[in-house]
Amino acid sequence: MPIIYDEARRCFHLYNARVSYILRLAAGSVPLHLYWGPRVRAIGDDLLTRLSRYTDETFSLHETPLDRLPQECPTFGMGDLREGMLHIVQADGAHALDLRYAGHQIAPGKPEIAGMPSARGDGAATLTLTLRDAYSGLTAELRYTVYEDVDILARSLRVVNGGDQAATIERAFSACVDFQRSDLSLLTLSGAWGRERQPYVRKLVPGEQGVSSVRGASSAIASPFMALLAPDANEEQGEVYAMALCYSGNFKATVNVDADWNPRAMIGIQPFGFSWNLAPGEAFETPEAYLCFSAEGLGGMSRTFHRFIRRYITSGKYARAARPLLVNNWEATYFDFDEDKLLALARTAKDVGIDLLVLDDGWFGRRDRDDSSLGDWTDDLRKLPHGLGGLSDRIHEMGLKFGLWVEPEMVSPDSDLYRAHPDWCIHAGGRMRVEARQQLVLDLSRADVRDYIVEAIGAAMERGKVDYVKWDMNRAINMSGSEKLPPERQKELGHRYILGVYEVMRRITSRFPQVLFESCASGGGRFDLAMMALMPQAWCSDDTDAWMRCRIQHGTSLVFPPSCMGAHVSASPNHQVGRSTPLATRAMVAMGGTYGYELDLTRLPQEELEQIAAFNRRVKALQPLLLYGDYYRLLSPFEGNECAFMSVSEDRGEAVVTHVTAQAQPFVQPGLLRLRGLNPDWDYRDEDSGRVYGGDELLYYGLPLKTAWGDYAGQQFHLMRVTD
Ligand code: DGJ
Repeated sequence: MPIIYDEARRCFHLYNARVSYILRLAAGSVPLHLYWGPRVRAIGDDLLTRLSRYTDETFSLHETPLDRLPQECPTFGMGDLREGMLHIVQADGAHALDLRYAGHQIAPGKPEIAGMPSARGDGAATLTLTLRDAYSGLTAELRYTVYEDVDILARSLRVVNGGDQAATIERAFSACVDFQRSDLSLLTLSGAWGRERQPYVRKLVPGEQGVSSVRGASSAIASPFMALLAPDANEEQGEVYAMALCYSGNFKATVNVDADWNPRAMIGIQPFGFSWNLAPGEAFETPEAYLCFSAEGLGGMSRTFHRFIRRYITSGKYARAARPLLVNNWEATYFDFDEDKLLALARTAKDVGIDLLVLDDGWFGRRDRDDSSLGDWTDDLRKLPHGLGGLSDRIHEMGLKFGLWVEPEMVSPDSDLYRAHPDWCIHAGGRMRVEARQQLVLDLSRADVRDYIVEAIGAAMERGKVDYVKWDMNRAINMSGSEKLPPERQKELGHRYILGVYEVMRRITSRFPQVLFESCASGGGRFDLAMMALMPQAWCSDDTDAWMRCRIQHGTSLVFPPSCMGAHVSASPNHQVGRSTPLATRAMVAMGGTYGYELDLTRLPQEELEQIAAFNRRVKALQPLLLYGDYYRLLSPFEGNECAFMSVSEDRGEAVVTHVTAQAQPFVQPGLLRLRGLNPDWDYRDEDSGRVYGGDELLYYGLPLKTAWGDYAGQQFHLMRVTD
């Protein structure tokens, strides 16, 4: 197993062929962090003294405060004066936690995390390191899982109250790494509705820096991810240390640079507004964090995350399968539709080779605007005289699949559900109920609410004989209070809510294993690894403008593969930014994700429908490569006038390259685009032009581009290895 315990030196070495992670029990009992980086062969004495300034012989916990040491699970009250990973208030109010080694286990596989999505662990191995506070009987289990085929280390923490007094967890991060270098920069992903996951890099300085969410969801404002970059790290080279969290609720990713300029990086549940009561005998588990080391820059990091997500996170029928090409009626009709309009859209869709029609918001209750009916999941017979079932039958008869939008976590104040159960929403008793988009949030910490949702959504799905579900969530959540929780547990609401979401999603997705689920939160407002574990794709952003999508998909691809990113061709001028872009560019950019349409096909001229039919044939032929190939970002739309990306097959014999120029300029030489991932010794043919290039030429000299004519011009190349 790729985990060695060196008893003489009290060292654990976790490794695969490329990466090592080493920790050591100092003074025999406190786990110190020694090393994370390129694979080292062995833990010899020489290496130990070079890696750690502290050895058993010279180190005493009383003499050397933990404040100066790199630790694996820093707590509070025992000498470390920095913010720690675990903070627990005990029954007498004391918050000193003295965690010492109490045992360890090395076993194949990986434990599941109770109530939360987590990665599969087939072929992996896990070290569980148990630490115990002798005074209180509290124990912390640190779990580390190593994978041989991907450079990911999964970490989580399980706290068990083995004492006879209650305790309160004030913070429990999933992972902490105390780096021993002062030259790193921090990369995070931040944004807003319509411009999610934009990369920001800053040089680390003493003090605290990072990103977080208290919005009830992982959010569009910040992503549960961060990476620390060596000074020379860029897209293609240099050392990158990344952390991503498998969690959809309030989170924090933080780096604290101490007095020695050493950064402490931690990721996990947001401590602000959180606490958790732990009665004797109870356990609390953190979400899982994934640590990725790449010696090949951000590109290497992304390809590692992509491979890991494909192999160990996404699951079910569609995880690695072809995805249906869909048309969604939202930007085609908004709330203004009826059965005839939908059937006309479906007929045109069928004619151009689309596989699935998605009926978006507005099919239930009496929802003509966004101010009513959420929670009343009954068919609106004014719009759908034959009900969902009748519409679905007609669509299926055309040979199309049928998909349905739902927003199960919400309730409109103007709804039968709210009138019957005004206590079912998240609110603080006697205070104002904070609405957003004229809706309230159901309290999914309650079992009765969860049961209602499973039944109502399950019934709608059965009635509609649906093949696809878009699970939306359209507002931020102030976790102000729950009627069911006692006062001392009110700060558990945020985490209990998200556990409730996971339970409901699990019950519904497992009841309908044939259905393709796509998550959504006003676009990409809950775009995280936990959602991907439950639903293999997510609507990337409500901004469907091709150039904005170049930016959003570029940022999103830092962690997520194209198979997770919902991407649609929409109307021009675009409905979010008013920009006009060529249809071909919109299609090429949407091919960077799970492909679909979001416009009224029935209004398009025949010529555009023919173009669309051709795109659809292309997507179907290239889908395995586009969705599941190795992804390379070639030109960043954040750095200039162009954006380019490519997907390469695992055997390197086939590639699709996409290039977009934002503003056309006169009198410029046609550019050369240097490609990545190809074999320099092979020749490649551009399948559209028939031109043949050497792999070395494409890698080191570049692929000749056409000069852009008109703004936002796109070009795409399908390269195949020449074997004849
Ligand atoms: C937000 C989603 O992101 C949109 O695609 C659409 O489904 C609307 N909600 C419907 O209310």
